[in-house]
Amino acid sequence: AMITLRQLLDHAAENGYAVPAFNINNMEQGLAIMTAAAATKSPVILQASRGARAYANDLVLAGLIQGFAKAFPDIPLCMHLDHGNGLATCATAIQNGFTSVMMDGSLKADGKTPADYDYNRDVTAKVVEMAHACGVSVEGELGVLGSLETGMGDQEDGHGATEQLGHDQLLTDPDEAVRFVNDTGVDALAIAMGTSHGAYKFSRKPDGDILAMHVIEEIHTRLPNTHLVMHGSSSVPEDLQQIINSYGGDIKPTWGVPVEEIQRGIKHGVRKVNIDTDNRLAMTAAIRKVFSEEPSEFDPRKYLKPAMQMMSQVCKDRFEAFGTAGNA
Ligand code: G3H
Ligand code: 13P
Ligand code: NA
Ligand code: ZN
Repeated sequence: AMITLRQLLDHAAENGYAVPAFNINNMEQGLAIMTAAAATKSPVILQASRGARAYANDLVLAGLIQGFAKAFPDIPLCMHLDHGNGLATCATAIQNGFTSVMMDGSLKADGKTPADYDYNRDVTAKVVEMAHACGVSVEGELGVLGSLETGMGDQEDGHGATEQLGHDQLLTDPDEAVRFVNDTGVDALAIAMGTSHGAYKFSRKPDGDILAMHVIEEIHTRLPNTHLVMHGSSSVPEDLQQIINSYGGDIKPTWGVPVEEIQRGIKHGVRKVNIDTDNRLAMTAAIRKVFSEEPSEFDPRKYLKPAMQMMSQVCKDRFEAFGTAGNA
């Protein structure tokens, strides 16, 4: 059944677990996630970016999600807009049946330029007023992931390296977090604590200094009832990098967010963990393997089914690791 983010994360907080939020762009990714949720009896967050909505067609995507809700009636399902950039984007998501929206006002509407506090507060408060009137939850974001100013982090080319920055101004300020939650009424808060989107997060295995776990701990102490969200939380598994590279791919050496660091966050109020890259890597690894080993195959099901299976295994692993399993 469809459920809001607030309902889902309140249950997670009461029971000390987190829910992975997996990005969805097509039927195969949706089936991989739902199959994993059913196998592990996990509640699930399917999230669609603006890019996903454009790729899949808004109405087709909405229809797919309604289909998943019907096909998996025992799985609590939250349909969430990832990185909404304004009131209109959030409103059309709600019209299409999303039960939760992210208003990312840490960036201007172009999705690139860092915004100041007043801009973020004003646009997020407006979205909260509109969404709550519709019974829909809202995630806000405070602080900037990676670094937009230096052009490091959030890059897909193998040159992003957040740890070289170490600038505290990129991390969410706990005082500002308290003010922001009180000013806007968001249900969940995405915080910047050293991660970035994509495969190239760190050039070595990150430790507790690179990942600012103290920021999470302090914000949770000050805002015990706000559900915290970690973006850029793919672990970028080495075995998937190896499969891709052994079948003709070219993933440069890279590290993601170790699962044990996410588990530390879950002890301190992290309830939603955003994962896209790991699933992209899994599907690509499986498809490259089939293409390489069976070059005469041309039925899409022959490579998309293994792709779903490899992605589904990643999802199952995260449901188990975050304590989501068994809570559906
Ligand atoms: O925020 C990043 C997510 O991985 C979604 O990526 O905008 O390419 O769909 P996307
Ligand atoms: P990854 O790129 O680490 O999977 O992060 C996804 C994300 O934060 C989506 O909002
Ligand atoms: Na999100
Ligand atoms: Zn994100």
